[in-house]
Amino acid sequence: MSLTRKAYRAAILHSIADPAVVGIEASYEYFEDGLLVTESGQISAIGHACELLASLPADIQVTHYQDALITPGFIDTHIHLPQTGMVGAYGEQLLDWLNTYTFPCESQFANKAHAEEVAGIFIKELLRNGTTTALVFGSVHPQSVDSFFEAARTLDLRMIAGKVMMDRNAPDYLTDTAESSYVDSKALIERWHGKGRLHYAVTPRFAPTSTPEQLTLAGQLLSEYPDLYMQTHISENLQEVEWVKELFPDRKGYLDVYDHYKLLGERSVFAHGVHLCDDECARLAETGSAIAFCPTSNFFLGSGLFNLPMAEKHNLNVGLGTDIGGGTSFSLLQTLNEAYKAMQLQGARLSPFKSLYLATLGGARALRLEDKIGTLQPGTDADFLVLDYNATPLLGYRLKQAKSIAETLFVLMTLGDDRTVLQTYAAGNLVHQR
Ligand code: GUN
Ligand code: ZN
Repeated sequence: MSLTRKAYRAAILHSIADPAVVGIEASYEYFEDGLLVTESGQISAIGHACELLASLPADIQVTHYQDALITPGFIDTHIHLPQTGMVGAYGEQLLDWLNTYTFPCESQFANKAHAEEVAGIFIKELLRNGTTTALVFGSVHPQSVDSFFEAARTLDLRMIAGKVMMDRNAPDYLTDTAESSYVDSKALIERWHGKGRLHYAVTPRFAPTSTPEQLTLAGQLLSEYPDLYMQTHISENLQEVEWVKELFPDRKGYLDVYDHYKLLGERSVFAHGVHLCDDECARLAETGSAIAFCPTSNFFLGSGLFNLPMAEKHNLNVGLGTDIGGGTSFSLLQTLNEAYKAMQLQGARLSPFKSLYLATLGGARALRLEDKIGTLQPGTDADFLVLDYNATPLLGYRLKQAKSIAETLFVLMTLGDDRTVLQTYAAGNLVHQR
């Protein structure tokens, strides 16, 4: 944590509300020549540089960026750490993809040294891409989560993770039992939940790989500790949806399985939701649950198109997920590029300000952390990015033609990627420099 006051001068942009609720103009704040002031790991002031500088001591350290934009750190509401080594696996849709590529890759985390190595690679990749908070699936092995949290704690990152619970319909080498998953998850919660900026997420993989007994115990864990998260997958692929109906014939549908086991709530995040019906969206909204919209994964695995307008109609919380390794990029800028296309294919529009919202404040709201991250409001964590308008020759040339911050933002999201992220700050500390 940085105790001294520091100031950063550049163009500054952040979301302050959902454009779907307040309209585009009231959804953001933009300072063409802005100043962001940090102190003790938090943001202490934001405003126009000329006004704010006048109120600060003359000797304050100011870092001045040209052709750059300061934004909040990005928030990835769905990603798998143990799939880092299998991004871009050819040819299959969800269920065959899991059996052919995913389960063998995740089995390597039985080895603690492997888990530590990948945790380091994974966190570096998040920060290179400007992601300062992520909701992370580990593997079934507790050490996948220990290694991740140890590395995240060293950098004082705000991160959420959980060990996968999976006691059926997966290879023997990768399953736990209802009982062991409960005991192992509980030990991880005791060790990590609430330590520094870390939080634990109870993580049943998805309904097909958990017995009713395991789902019951997942619900029990949620009732035993305050403010725990719950993450799982839902209605991603049509074959998967049919399989869930066969496995749980007494339930009304996929969401009702999770509802029955008391897994819905304000800190519950369901990945995908591509094939949800209107009633299920209403129930998610009613319980304060959130969806992680994962467009690069939905395209790559041929899963379908997420209906964002339907979610907006229900005022459902939606964040953005990369879903590495079903997804193909750690970059939330690239994820927004694909989100835009997913909307185009449905005859809908994704405005650049809604996109910014999804990658920042929308994600924070999905995680109930909007008082700590997702904006640059004073009093929140100093997790922010410096984006470079000249990251590539084409980006630099294209942005010189831009006539508004809306156009600049849209081009950043269409052409931008990890190269665009010049610096990443977490709790006021520089944690990535391109
Ligand atoms: N459903 C169950 N497990 C997974 C996974 O690892 N990735 C994706 N995309 N969907 C899943
Ligand atoms: Zn996933």
